Amino acid sequence: MTGAGLEDGAPRALVVRTGPALRGSFRPPGDKSITHRAYLFALLGAGETRVVDPNLGEDCERTSAACAALGVRIERSADPCVLLSNRGLSAPQQPLDCGNSGTTLRLLAGILASQSFEVTLIGDRSLSRRPLDRVIEPLRAMGAVLTAAEGDRFAPLHVRGATLRGCAHRLAVSSAQVASALCFAGWRASGETLIEIPGPARDHTERMAAACGLPIEVQAEASGARRLRVRSGSPVTAREFRVPADPSAAAFLLAAAAAAPGAEVTATGLTLNPTRTGFLEVLEAVGAEVIVTSRGEASGDPVGDVTVRGPEQLRAFDIPSEWVPRLVDEVPAWAILASAARGTSRLRGAAELRVKESDRLRTLAEGLTRLGIEVHEAPDGLEIVGGELRGGAIEARNDHRIAMAFAVMGTRAAQPVRIDDARSIATSFPEFESVLARLGGRLEHPAEGR
Ligand code: S3P
Repeated sequence: MTGAGLEDGAPRALVVRTGPALRGSFRPPGDKSITHRAYLFALLGAGETRVVDPNLGEDCERTSAACAALGVRIERSADPCVLLSNRGLSAPQQPLDCGNSGTTLRLLAGILASQSFEVTLIGDRSLSRRPLDRVIEPLRAMGAVLTAAEGDRFAPLHVRGATLRGCAHRLAVSSAQVASALCFAGWRASGETLIEIPGPARDHTERMAAACGLPIEVQAEASGARRLRVRSGSPVTAREFRVPADPSAAAFLLAAAAAAPGAEVTATGLTLNPTRTGFLEVLEAVGAEVIVTSRGEASGDPVGDVTVRGPEQLRAFDIPSEWVPRLVDEVPAWAILASAARGTSRLRGAAELRVKESDRLRTLAEGLTRLGIEVHEAPDGLEIVGGELRGGAIEARNDHRIAMAFAVMGTRAAQPVRIDDARSIATSFPEFESVLARLGGRLEHPAEGR
């Protein structure tokens, strides 16, 4: 990877043609959320952090590059394993480039707010349009000195290290990124930091903190809302994280299996953290056969293999809005199911999708329409009428999950599906194309200009 943004370099078109129903087994990349956090825990205190099976996509590489720029020594071995040695942080020579990665930018803000130096965080064009006020405002309430562009809403974000004090927060959005940034800040603040998360959100930070000797007191409610109590502390000096595989990456190929009668695909070693399994419930609800085999634990999460078999016909299903946080990154994969189902599938309560790597409700609606699928866009959701995919040309808008969703739709479209630029897939799942090909997908990269 170069230090430059994803928009540099020529687009790399991808064409996917219909082929046999996918069959086989694969290990998805390491979980992206857990990998980011594993690297970032290394910034919290002196010592060594070993991260086994990390996600090697561009987003997590941004986080590891940021750690290196802050003075952490990084060694890699082929297992794959990354060893981070922290003997004290120092001001980076240049702005930290978070690329396309919202998690890198928002979580780093929480860590850097209490250092003894100044840092500027920048991102690519897409990241520079994603909201930062949600993290700036609560950090400021703790004494952080932060300024950002356009009325403190967007990157670049300038952070001047300050002395933080704990306080009570009630988050406006149930964002794990914001809650995690506040935990990271809270460990280096005086007093207690209370964080009320109004609805379900992934809880990797809490689970991984326990492994670092940084317990967070958690009060969970049946609705999924959580109250976190964080006290200042430093992590133990040696910590190891084994990263389970990423269910949000697996979702595309599991959806491909569900949407094709006779297909059978197994994703191995997935985190089965209950805040991440909403999509498996959707697969069952639409009529796919889902078999889960437990395989122990990693980084505080239950882990297992998931096999999905496609039925003769998928049925339409309306996703209850309270499920959305547990499948927020899987909505593009849900579109694969909805386009193949008999009837109309609905999603509501998903306005957050408008501020992801692209406006995913708009990008999905545009792409599905291009492929001949009837789709209605609401401010906070989509209504998709299942039907024949006719093939066509898609703009992925530099969004990895959109590119993967339409690549999978190409495996059952009447005509080839051409994605304008598939480079973004490397953000989270660099091996996606080779795995899809190994499972039976027919892919090609047309020569430039064709
Ligand atoms: C993430 C949290 C989610 C998710 C993102 C990764 C994380 O975002 O969509 O891909 O690792 O904390 P929000 O916290 O903004 O909901």
